[in-house]
Formats: sequence, C-alpha cells, structure tokens
Amino acid sequence: MNYNDGMSLYAIGDLHLHYQSVLKAKAQLSDPLWKDHERRFKENCERMISDKDTLVLVGDHSWGKNLSECEEDFAYIRSLPGRKILTRGNHDMFWDARKTRQLNEQFQPDLTFLQDGYLTYKDYALVATKGHTFEGPYYLNQKGQIIGWDEEAEQQAKKLVERERLRISRSLESARKDGFRKIVIFLHYPPTSVIESDSVFTKLAEQYDVSQVIYAHCHGERRFHDSIQGRYRGIKYSLVSGDYLNWVPKKILD
Ligand SMILES: [Fe+2]
Ligand SMILES: [Fe+2]
Repeated sequence: MNYNDGMSLYAIGDLHLHYQSVLKAKAQLSDPLWKDHERRFKENCERMISDKDTLVLVGDHSWGKNLSECEEDFAYIRSLPGRKILTRGNHDMFWDARKTRQLNEQFQPDLTFLQDGYLTYKDYALVATKGHTFEGPYYLNQKGQIIGWDEEAEQQAKKLVERERLRISRSLESARKDGFRKIVIFLHYPPTSVIESDSVFTKLAEQYDVSQVIYAHCHGERRFHDSIQGRYRGIKYSLVSGDYLNWVPKKILD
C-alpha cells in the first residue's frame, strides 16, 4: 500500500506527570532537563504534531497511585494534539494490565491504552508491553567494571522477563496471523540490560522481523547508553525517554 497523506507517528516516554500526586523523584524539580518539562513538551507537540498524527506515550505517564490521582495528568495528555496511544511503564500504578479494557472504555475516544493485541497505523501493527530487564544491583571493582551482581534480584527479574515475553509474543502472533508484515514494538524497559548484548526481546524482534523497537525508562546521562541504539541485526532501536529527547517527540514513522 502507498500512503501519501502527510501523517506521521511520534513517540516519547516518561512524562512522569504529578499535577495531583507526590513527586517521587525530587531531581525532577532541580534538574534543568526536567524544569518546566510539561510546558516545554506541550509547546513542542503543538509545533510538530497535527490532529492527523499519532503520538505514542511509552510509559511512566504519572506518579499518581490510582486513577483519581491521575485525573489532571490525563487532562493534560488529552489536551495534546493528535491520536494518543499510551503504553505501560513501571510507575503506572493506575494501570492493572488485566484491566486495560476497562481503561479503554473509560477514556475512549480521547486516549487508547495498548497492552494486549495490536493497533494499526497505516500498514503497520503496533504492539506494546512494559518489558523488563535486570537492573542490578551490580558489584563493581575499583575501575567501575561489573564483577558480580545480586543473584536473587536476577532470578526475580527473570520471572518478570518471562511474563513480559509471553505477553508480547501473543500480540506479535496475532498481528502476524492477521497478515501484518510490518510491526513496531514498544517496550518501556530497554530491550537489554547493561550486561546483555541480546535478550528474549531482541530475539523476538528478529524472529518476527519487526521494523523498529522503541523503548524509554532510561533517565540521566549515565543511563542513556544502557541498551541498544540505532541499527542492530537489521532492526532500528530507539530510546525515547523524555529527558533523553529534551521533550521533543521523536518521529518514528511517516
Ligand atoms: Fe521513567
Ligand atoms: Fe520507567
């Protein structure tokens, strides 16, 4: 199919809004990258995104502990231009994955919450899950090299990785069964940890020959290069955490 309608799909993650809730990362107040980020992000969206475009928000939307603590955050997200798709992050306490349907019933048509199955954008299938990766604790030597890690934490991480692998596998399978040849995966966690060069997520991306893997979650200069960026085994990987992008949504598809 050929599309020439001027539409684009953008992505960004980690808005970490807190209009009604307790800000858990105090650095958000003092770090210049986070200063006034709500206003700067909205201005960038209004300058770049039209109502025909799609904006995928890749998790960690709000610090709210439940839906009522997120109301103003959702009002802010609703006020952004374009079709808004939200995926789950590790801080999204308002979102029980098993209740995604109820969330969609409550917020349609303004917001779409993507967890199981897929959504379409032109001839692409968009699939999403939170993902997971082992984030330590690691033990370092004096040169800062990793010489060991917490094995109990690693075992726990493996369980979460497996749950997320099952979720994304089902969505990938349903997209393929329905004939989609072009797929974009949205994870919240990076696809690999700092000690991995590949993972179940990169292998699935290769197995399903997906076009792109988009992820967020990595905050601060020291974390921006924790995982894969750019082309790797034919797949394009992009980090889209808001502070990494300085609150400019990244164009993913034309
Ligand atoms: Fe985050
Ligand atoms: Fe996160």
